[in-house]
Amino acid sequence: MAETVAIILAAGGSTRMNTQLAKVLHEVCGRPMLAYVLDACRKVGIKRICVIVGFGAEQVQAQFANAEGIVWVRQDQQLGTGHAVACCKEYLKDFDGQVLVLCGDGPLIRSHTLKALLEKHETGQSAATLATAVLDDPTGYGRIVRDAYGNMQGIVEDSDCTPEQRAIKEINPSNYLFNCEILFEALERVQPDNVKKEYYLTDAVSGIIATGHKVEAITAVPPDEAVGINSRAQLSAASKIMQQRIQRRLMEDGVTIVDPDNTWIDARAQIGQDTVIEPFTYIHGEVTIGRSCRVGPFAHLRHGTVLENDVVLGVFTEVKNSILSDGVRARHHSYLGDATVGQNVNIGAGSITANFDGENVNRTRIGDNCYIGSGAVLIAPLDLKDGSNVGAGTVVSQDSANELGGKAKVDVVQ
Ligand code: UD1
Ligand code: CA
Repeated sequence: MAETVAIILAAGGSTRMNTQLAKVLHEVCGRPMLAYVLDACRKVGIKRICVIVGFGAEQVQAQFANAEGIVWVRQDQQLGTGHAVACCKEYLKDFDGQVLVLCGDGPLIRSHTLKALLEKHETGQSAATLATAVLDDPTGYGRIVRDAYGNMQGIVEDSDCTPEQRAIKEINPSNYLFNCEILFEALERVQPDNVKKEYYLTDAVSGIIATGHKVEAITAVPPDEAVGINSRAQLSAASKIMQQRIQRRLMEDGVTIVDPDNTWIDARAQIGQDTVIEPFTYIHGEVTIGRSCRVGPFAHLRHGTVLENDVVLGVFTEVKNSILSDGVRARHHSYLGDATVGQNVNIGAGSITANFDGENVNRTRIGDNCYIGSGAVLIAPLDLKDGSNVGAGTVVSQDSANELGGKAKVDVVQ
């Protein structure tokens, strides 16, 4: 198979999103939408990915500064998707392979679908192959126009459609494979003669057909992968689809999610077998949960949380940047922030780590087998030795813990 370079279009601002942030940085289940498109390319073995940036370019590049294999290409003026691809001409001038073009605002595309597209392009020996989708409501998307024999004739943008064309349900999700040389030749001929006065990539497809090259369109994109994000409403619709995928994967891995519609789990979260997630649990950021834990209802787990195995977190328990070892229990109304909690520790109702002193965030260490009674305030920095016993309602500082030899039986109510 010829080498494939990917081009991801991510330079457009977004009037419809009404945002200051580059559109591709808006998050879907905790990750910027561009991250998913990059993942899909990498999963099909693509090593070189050109990302076209313009609006908010610095923000985008800064956020993906550590990502591998990205070639950043600037499009200073957003003159359309065809113009955006043409910005790679210089970089690809000696490249004689094929080019996969995707949109940064289409994070739901799966590698499985891209693989089918790559295979079809290879076997069909076409100049271009498009993966299309059939939607009940095609509003807003470019429509695929075919002749009476089913051969593809071109793509017409929603704003340029005749009423008959508008009724077509087969749409362009913007997942294309092109022969590189033929693509750039066709782009030279594209004119901005449309309602938006933009240079459309879709017109390059019609141009390739017009010059007698073979172009194939395969209906390979399931509707739930075709959603392009142009508005906040589409962002939330895409997030919902992604959330269902995340939860389905976790359930296949042996996690019980009692009420999927009332649970939100970040794409980066990892959860072990036989853990039960109760309703109204919200997990945001890189969070790792081990085996046979019970989380929720109404638990809030934030970035940097690690629960080892058999941990129980109950109602209104918030955990941030903390490690909770095997068998820790915090069943009611607690906040554990920047804490390392040893094995089999019981955290009583309403107890918290006071981790912020107004200037610095400090850590709390609680040794193995400690018992923290209800309503305790643990003032960080604090190091409680194994087996410490903190009475209900106690405010514990390092000094008060030390007075009792570090292994505190601190039961003074202050
Ligand atoms: C585009 C397609 C449409 C398709 C839809 C799928 C064109 C002309 N239309 O429409 O057929 O159904 O995607 O979601 O291609 N961009 C740039 N530079 C530009 C303009 C856009 O990088 O000058 C980027 C945007 O940031 C975005 C992507 O290209 O990520 C698509 O542009 P957008 O304006 O969202 O196109 P649509 O109207 O959605
Ligand atoms: Ca779009």
